Amino acid sequence: MPLKIAQLGQPVLRQVAEPVPPADIEKREFQQFVDAMAETMRESNGVGLAAPQVFSSRRLFLAAVLPSATEGRREQVEVFVNPKITPISEEQVSGWEGCLSFIELLVLVPRARHVRVEYLDRTGKPKTLELSGWLARVVQHENDHLDGVLTIDRAATTRDIVKASEIDAVRGHSHEDDEDDD
Ligand code: NI
Repeated sequence: MPLKIAQLGQPVLRQVAEPVPPADIEKREFQQFVDAMAETMRESNGVGLAAPQVFSSRRLFLAAVLPSATEGRREQVEVFVNPKITPISEEQVSGWEGCLSFIELLVLVPRARHVRVEYLDRTGKPKTLELSGWLARVVQHENDHLDGVLTIDRAATTRDIVKASEIDAVRGHSHEDDEDDD
């Protein structure tokens, strides 16, 4: 069953999440929780979902950032446990981001263009990924959720916060990337 998604105003979205004890990863409860998050993300058509968004304050998120086996298909979902993100260039780029915790809004957010992510996958195996552009943006957005940070906090000005329904009216000002909910 899909999980309930915390909406803007819920205190859990503003907490700093706790690391996942690595020994918990192989446990049934954790694996079932990951499956429930995946289902919730799918049902919401999201490209990412962080545990605090489903009322669980632990350092874990899902993001569709792995290359798909089939050309033209959406990226595959990876599970990021206790992630650490490091920019690998100085370059920043702004793009419009949605969020499943407030789908009514889009926010123009500056992010690092290239990042390295170190994390444990859902089997507990340490992994490193290097991502660029939109995929780098998705993991930075989700990782922010683990620190209680939302897109609205990252807007360069409150003028960069708009109703999703009105995005066409402001598109002329934006730079790259399509919006997506995560
Ligand atoms: Ni979000």
